[in-house]
Amino acid sequence: MPRTIHLCTECGHESAGWLGRCPGCGEWNTLVEERPSSSNGAGRSAPSARRNGAPAGRPRPLKEVQAPAIERLRTGVAELDRVLGGGIVPGSLVLLGGSPGIGKSTITGGALGRLAAGGHPVLYVSGEESAVQVRFRAERLGRDALLVPVLAETDLDVVEATIEAERPAVCVIDSVQTLHAGGLSGAAGSVGQVREVAGRLARVAKERGVAIVLVGHVTKDGSLAGPRVLEHLVDCVLQFEGEPERTYRTLRALKNRFGSTNEVGVFEMREDGLVEVADPSARFVDEASRAPGSVVLCAMEGSRPVLVEVQALVAESPLEAPRRLANGVDRNRLALVLAVLARHAGLSFGASDVFASVAGGVRVDEPGADLAVALALASAVRGVRLGEEGRPLAAFGEVGLTGELRQVAHPDRRAAEAARFGLSPLAPCGEVATLAKALELACSR
Ligand code: TYD
Ligand code: MG
Repeated sequence: MPRTIHLCTECGHESAGWLGRCPGCGEWNTLVEERPSSSNGAGRSAPSARRNGAPAGRPRPLKEVQAPAIERLRTGVAELDRVLGGGIVPGSLVLLGGSPGIGKSTITGGALGRLAAGGHPVLYVSGEESAVQVRFRAERLGRDALLVPVLAETDLDVVEATIEAERPAVCVIDSVQTLHAGGLSGAAGSVGQVREVAGRLARVAKERGVAIVLVGHVTKDGSLAGPRVLEHLVDCVLQFEGEPERTYRTLRALKNRFGSTNEVGVFEMREDGLVEVADPSARFVDEASRAPGSVVLCAMEGSRPVLVEVQALVAESPLEAPRRLANGVDRNRLALVLAVLARHAGLSFGASDVFASVAGGVRVDEPGADLAVALALASAVRGVRLGEEGRPLAAFGEVGLTGELRQVAHPDRRAAEAARFGLSPLAPCGEVATLAKALELACSR
């Protein structure tokens, strides 16, 4: 009877017996029983004594280590290439995460189509959909997508053999949770299975120089389902975000061994697939409502300044504990901004429902959004439109606990982006040092 081990579905921590709380990450009820495969796999991690007589390795000065230039394959989807750091690196393993319906199959199908049209051998392995279903999607995506060879398969052995035989330059596995390794117990998608599948595919990728994109589902709380273990194994983790019912999607790199993790790509889901939004600021400023409660935020998405519209609504609440709803901005920062507005600007929201959101389903994750959120709330509660001569008000800056405004990174680039649209943003400076002062100026413009 083979020994079983217990693996944490969150962090991959291994334990001999079941525990209520994972010692690795402290989560409760995340340990599940797995049977390690006999050949390799999970049992290997027990530290064993060093072999006697093992030769010592020879460390070399880094300057003597040959570093070949990394050649990249451009997928032809410019926003995807930018997030990858200039294209996909041959032999690399990329994990693409996102919730169901966000467009993972669409973007990977589209990218493979463009690569195929450019003469690169590609392969699309679908474990979720039949070849017919994949074809239906490809028909919407256009002629290039129909050039992609598809393999509808869930058996890892068959997939591996096919990759060895076909030697594609880029192979998409949609999704990693649907493949099943024969030698291993546990259902497809279990931690042990996903780890085995990814481990074996990683080896094929490195040995054959095949770039492999693993598509992975994301749990409700936004983490890559179960296999957080995968994040260590792959070279690059991309996260596809947005709300399925909205049109905008953002693609970010959470980890990238071959590039910066700062790049963000913006896409729009259309009838004919995902279309890159090359100038997101122009789009969002154009769509800004200019009504009370609307302010344009000069945000930084990675290394790129982007203007987005922040909207707020303040309405009398029938509830004893009024609602505070944040969409695209951090809930806690919304609470902080409300508290500072109440304490230092005399604006009370006590008995009202408060909603704040970034239009278009984009998420902004930086304290630089505070001032725009505060101004939008003030504009909403007073029912006055901000900005002048039909132009919206633009702003950025962090709000501190004592009501002061704080500088945020890249003020010049944010202001320059706003200037492209004839906007001169309200931002922390000598003259505008407090939220109260900023409000006074905004309302007098
Ligand atoms: P899909 O790529 O299948 O999502 P995922 O693989 O992440 O689960 O796409 C999901 C949604 O996108 C689906 O509801 C239909 C919509 N869609 C379009 O609006 N236009 C298109 O051209 C395509 C292919 C899909
Ligand atoms: Mg899919």
